[in-house]
Amino acid sequence: MTDRGTGNGTGRGHVSILEGNSYQPADAAQLGPRARSLVEQRERSLGAAYRLFYRHPVELVRGQGARVWDADGSEYLDLYNNVPSVGHAHPRVTEAVHRQMSQLNTHTRYLHEAIVRYAGDLLATMPAEVDQVMFVCTGSEANDLALRVGRAYTGGLAYIVTSEAYHGNTALVSAHSPSLSNVEAMDPALRVIAPPDTYRHGSPEAAGAAFLAAVERAIGDIEASGDKLAGLIADTSFSSDGIYTGAPGMITAAVDLVHARGGVFIADEVQPGFARTGEAFWGFARHGIAPDLVTTGKPMGNGFPVAGLAARREVLSAYSATRPYFNTFGGNPVAMAAAQAVLDVIRDEGLQAHALDVGGQLRDGLRSLAGTHESIGDVRGAGLYTGLELVLSRDAKEPATGLALDLIEELRERRILTSVCGPASNVLKLRPPLALAASDLPRIFEALDGALRSLEKSA
Ligand SMILES: Cc1ncc(COP(=O)(O)O)c(C=O)c1O
Repeated sequence: MTDRGTGNGTGRGHVSILEGNSYQPADAAQLGPRARSLVEQRERSLGAAYRLFYRHPVELVRGQGARVWDADGSEYLDLYNNVPSVGHAHPRVTEAVHRQMSQLNTHTRYLHEAIVRYAGDLLATMPAEVDQVMFVCTGSEANDLALRVGRAYTGGLAYIVTSEAYHGNTALVSAHSPSLSNVEAMDPALRVIAPPDTYRHGSPEAAGAAFLAAVERAIGDIEASGDKLAGLIADTSFSSDGIYTGAPGMITAAVDLVHARGGVFIADEVQPGFARTGEAFWGFARHGIAPDLVTTGKPMGNGFPVAGLAARREVLSAYSATRPYFNTFGGNPVAMAAAQAVLDVIRDEGLQAHALDVGGQLRDGLRSLAGTHESIGDVRGAGLYTGLELVLSRDAKEPATGLALDLIEELRERRILTSVCGPASNVLKLRPPLALAASDLPRIFEALDGALRSLEKSA
């Protein structure tokens, strides 16, 4: 495994994507009695592995569209959650789940119309050669299966991933998630490369060229060491790496190279999929890439646990022709009802075009704010996926981790929910439900401006 940078300015060494914005037990004394009691009960009954957001965790009880309410009745604008993709508590998804749950919920060993209808509808959004799909419950399961299918098809073991990638929580997938490398052993065959950092390389073209060179070096290393290439797995929005949507086509040459050298490309669509980037329905489609395997999750069921692995038939059959597969909950009629409703709502409400429009306006406004706040080093993204990178100086581009962590707390106090990503936890991740409206934007700009001013004054 190649070396990766560590220092992130938090004073806590390398922290994973799960820990950048997280409640620390040392902050317990500042909590109100109810929050303190819930935190204590969680620790007692859930164990120590769970992480809460924020120094003062939020207790959410209700949501609608891009808004959520806490236990005291305070309303927040949700700029963070892509799982309720078409909006919190969307009535059509709720109704579809309720109707199917009241009728029947079994598993995939009986015939049911819903699974074949949804499979056909989902595959119609993908390139013609991606023509089969299997259903699971989480993105982790989808990636676990994809990694195994890719290995069966290529006969290789070695995957290439980016240095802060998170692909999920199973043993195999954790071992291919370098964001967990401070606590998990990485796969012995894994090769880790830098993401296409458009900010530090200065342009998508330069970032794409550096990414291609990194993939080429990794493949060379795999071949020289006697390992065999299995492929490249990437979230094409590089969200945990710091959000590098870049320009369409930025990573296409790198994927072509993987194919030319006998590997598969696994497009992890858990983040960019289902219209989020506005420019295409899928992240890979923005780049004009023909993937071999496509994994889906989070936004697919608007909160109902449903995920999938779509594949080119000849790739999938290297695995499925010899192995039976059963997943107790994956693809059950209720999961399919939720997923179908989400797909229908995205189409009927024109949410892809909406994401393109509102996301573009959001980044325009953030770029205006950068005119008055030197700490905003970069505003980047596509559709309703935006990264706002905070730096100590625009020349050195050194991450302003402390400021970013303080800023999300300030925004929380101003009733805006967001979080951070990237290896230094200094990139604000603005990834709201697609229901965010243009009329919500002034509230965001005002809160950010006010929060930054107050932090700059106290610095
Ligand atoms: C890019 C990516 N892939 C996979 C996963 C894992 O999905 P899940 O939490 O549903 O297992 C995540 C979760 O954050 C993710 O961001």
